[in-house]
Amino acid sequence: MPTPQRVALLGATGSIGRQTLEVLRRERARFQLVAISGGERLSELAAIQREFAVKRVGVKTSAHRDALAALVPASVEIVVGDEGLSSLARDGDVVVNAVVGFAGLPVTIGALEAGARLALANKESLVAAAPLVATARRTTGAQIVPVDSEHCAIYQCLAGASTLPGHPDVRRLLLTASGGPFRGWGHEQLARVTRADALRHPTWSMGEKITVDSSTLMNKGLEVLEASALFGVEAARIDVVVHPQSIVHSMVEYVDGSVLAQMSRPDMRLPIAYCLGLPERLDHAWGAMDFASGFELTFEAPDRDAFPALDLAYEAARLGGAAPAWLSAANEVAVDAFLRDRLRWREIVDVVAAVMDHYVADPLNTLEALYDNDATARRLAAGNLPR
Ligand SMILES: NC(=O)c1ccc[n+]([C@@H]2O[C@H](COP(=O)([O-])OP(=O)(O)OC[C@H]3O[C@@H](n4cnc5c(N)ncnc54)[C@H](OP(=O)(O)O)[C@@H]3O)[C@@H](O)[C@H]2O)c1
Repeated sequence: MPTPQRVALLGATGSIGRQTLEVLRRERARFQLVAISGGERLSELAAIQREFAVKRVGVKTSAHRDALAALVPASVEIVVGDEGLSSLARDGDVVVNAVVGFAGLPVTIGALEAGARLALANKESLVAAAPLVATARRTTGAQIVPVDSEHCAIYQCLAGASTLPGHPDVRRLLLTASGGPFRGWGHEQLARVTRADALRHPTWSMGEKITVDSSTLMNKGLEVLEASALFGVEAARIDVVVHPQSIVHSMVEYVDGSVLAQMSRPDMRLPIAYCLGLPERLDHAWGAMDFASGFELTFEAPDRDAFPALDLAYEAARLGGAAPAWLSAANEVAVDAFLRDRLRWREIVDVVAAVMDHYVADPLNTLEALYDNDATARRLAAGNLPR
């Protein structure tokens, strides 16, 4: 049996984190979990440390470190904050970035600078830092494999594509969207959406932030930006198609009109296992389908009028530079306010649009510039929340 691959799983206590652990439990000989991190759920973090005998654990603050120290053996190294995350991301042969939001940036940059394979769930870091990620990605050995199911599908459908920059044999990438819980709703109904409504996703069970993003279609907007940065295809060649069954995870249309799609039952353990197992496929059939049972696959255009987040994302892609970082930061502030009952659902995208009206072009050449832009967008978003 070859030496196990060292896996660092950052954001281990969340939805993607827990599903990654399920894959690792089935593959104990193949993978060794060497580093984990969490946010608020310290008892869950300690339980993961015990189960997998993890040697290094990351937490957000020194207060979290003190609380965790009481729950894990003294031999466990506890690291803190962005620096801690960055050092853990340099520990694995494979680094799973399952942190939510801009907080995942040190993991993305750290893993790539260390020349690791980055299994990327945290789309916000790539969206915000695309020019900087492109530089870090040139490190010898560094590789990004997308956990996001749509991007994992495109990654697989591009397997036979030209390797020339921009994939000239590809006409367009087709990102599928479930449409979220409010597909087909009109403006009047949307004005009455509650927190509970927004957290009820029809096909996927996920963390709260991405579930709200799916309800506004901002998640799909972020995914357009993510796909553009990942595959080097401009946003004008990336289309969104609503596919309520979430069976076709995305598609690639080639210049000869041929369309390749990747299908499975919706189960995030499949893309996670794909990213961990590469270049092999792990034999678990997470998403296996029963074609004999009979089912429908339908496709329709998104309602851009009812869900303006999509157009905001395409505009941010057109502007480039720091515009996607502003979009994502403003959205994080607005979604957080919605989850705290400080903002109505419809106002989430209004806040983002108001922030984007003040965007000042910046090419985003340095990490310092990114943090400055992120802080500016967050300040403007906070200023647009109701008092
Ligand atoms: N869930 C899905 O099916 C899915 C699918 C595709 C892509 N994604 C992407 O994957 C990422 C994770 O999503 P999720 O649904 O797994 O989110 P989640 O359930 O909210 O989990 C987020 C993880 O990040 C940790 N965390 C939160 N804030 C942090 C901070 N400031 N610093 C360090 N760690 C922090 C959380 O810790 P605590 O829980 O301990 O507080 C948790 O471990 C997101 O970028 C999302 O867009 C998710």
